[in-house]
Amino acid sequence: MIAIGCDHAGYELKKSVIDFLNEKGFDTLDLGCGGEHVDYPEIAEKVCEKVTDGSCEKGILICGTGVGMSIAANKVKGIRAALCSEHFSAKYTRLHNDSNILCMGARTIGAGLATELAELFLTTEFEGGRHQRRVDLITDLENKNLS
Ligand code: RB5
Repeated sequence: MIAIGCDHAGYELKKSVIDFLNEKGFDTLDLGCGGEHVDYPEIAEKVCEKVTDGSCEKGILICGTGVGMSIAANKVKGIRAALCSEHFSAKYTRLHNDSNILCMGARTIGAGLATELAELFLTTEFEGGRHQRRVDLITDLENKNLS
């Protein structure tokens, strides 16, 4: 299950991403918003919670730039959120960072690119190996700095 959320700026793009992912066979859990004005950290928190409690394997967050969502999501222990607007980062943040949330900006990229990035992110496996040590160091940082 893929948790997905957006603010008002990301609503139209979120609908396109959900339709695309469902057609590709992914199950999605839409955690809002429904187009009304909302504060993006509240939606980020909902999506992050589904990922950290294990009920969703990954999450997708969309706001105007994707920046606010990524800042908010990365305050949550256990979340590694990556803001992506091109293929290379969407692939390598999975391979090397084991990112569990993809953030995108509805005012910076279109639906064609966003849907491709989502599919690439969701189908690329973490490489492990030397990258596991680095992800563990990120976890150490969390443990020292996030209560
Ligand atoms: C909302 O206007 C906008 O600030 C938000 O979608 C996002 O871009 C913040 O980072």
